[in-house]
Amino acid sequence: MSYSVKPLSSALGAEVEGLDLSQPLDDATVAQLRKSWLEHQVLLFRGQDVTDDQFIRFSACFGELHNHQNYQEELVHPTRKELLVVKSHAVNGKVIRFGQEWHSDMSYTTRPAMASVLGARRLPPVGGDTLWSNMYMAYDTLAEPVKRMVDALSAVHDVTNGSSHIGDRADIRIANMKRNPPVLQPIVRVHPETGRRALFVSEWMCTRIPGLSEIESDSILSMLFKHSTRSEFVYRQKWKLGDVLIWDNRCTVHMALRDYGSEFSREMIRTSLVGTPSGELV
Ligand code: SIN
Repeated sequence: MSYSVKPLSSALGAEVEGLDLSQPLDDATVAQLRKSWLEHQVLLFRGQDVTDDQFIRFSACFGELHNHQNYQEELVHPTRKELLVVKSHAVNGKVIRFGQEWHSDMSYTTRPAMASVLGARRLPPVGGDTLWSNMYMAYDTLAEPVKRMVDALSAVHDVTNGSSHIGDRADIRIANMKRNPPVLQPIVRVHPETGRRALFVSEWMCTRIPGLSEIESDSILSMLFKHSTRSEFVYRQKWKLGDVLIWDNRCTVHMALRDYGSEFSREMIRTSLVGTPSGELV
C-alpha cells in the first residue's frame, strides 16, 4: 500500500496521506508506519470514515489494547472496553474535564500507555485543539549538568493532582485514588524502541521529587514543566471530523484545550496501547 508522510511542525507530528483506515492494513504497511511513527511521534490521518470496530482494528496494529479498568466508568464505552468516549459536555449531570493539562497517558500507573489513538467524532465550531510536546527535544536541550541531575531523580505521579479533578466529590476522589495509587517514575525515560532519552514529567501528574526539600522539589519540577512545553517543541492539532491520530506517550506529553463555550460539545474516541512496566508504587 503506498502513502506519503508530510511533517506537520518542526518539532513533531506528520500527516499520512493515501491510506484508508476502514480497510485492513497489510504487515509491510504496518511495519513502515511504525517506523514513521517512531520518527515523528505523532501521525495524523485525515478524512477517515471509520466505525468503532475499524478504529479498534487500526489501533491494534500498533500493540496490545488496554481495557481501561482503572478509568472512571462513565468514560469507558458501554460494550467495547477498549474504547474511551471522551466527551466535554455533561455526562450524567457531571461535566467531564478530560486531559486538559499536560500529561502522558497512564504515567500514574506502573504500566504507562505506550501509545494512544484519538478520533474526532463531534467538534465545537472553533477551539478544542490538542497540543503535543516533544519530550526528546525537551531532554536534549537541557544543559549537561541539569541532564546529569535529572537523570538521577524520580517524581511521584498522582492522577488526582491537577485541575481535571477539581470539584470531584470526596467519594469519587477516594475511589480514583484507590484504583490509581501514586507511582514513582524516573524523570528521564529511555525509549524502549529508539533508545533515546526523553523527559517523563508533566504538570498534571507530578507532585514531588522524594528526597528533596519542598522548595528544591517545587523549583525543579516547575522548571521542567516550563521547559518541556516550550512553544518550539509543540505541535498543535486543529481537529477536523474524520481525523484519526496516533501518538507515542513514551516521548511526548499532550493536553486538550478547553477554550470553547459550554453550549458546545466535543466528542472523541480513544484507545490506549499497553506499554512496558515503569516505576513503582510509592
Ligand atoms: C487525552 O488526553 O487523551 C485526550 C486529548 C483530547 O481530548 O484532545
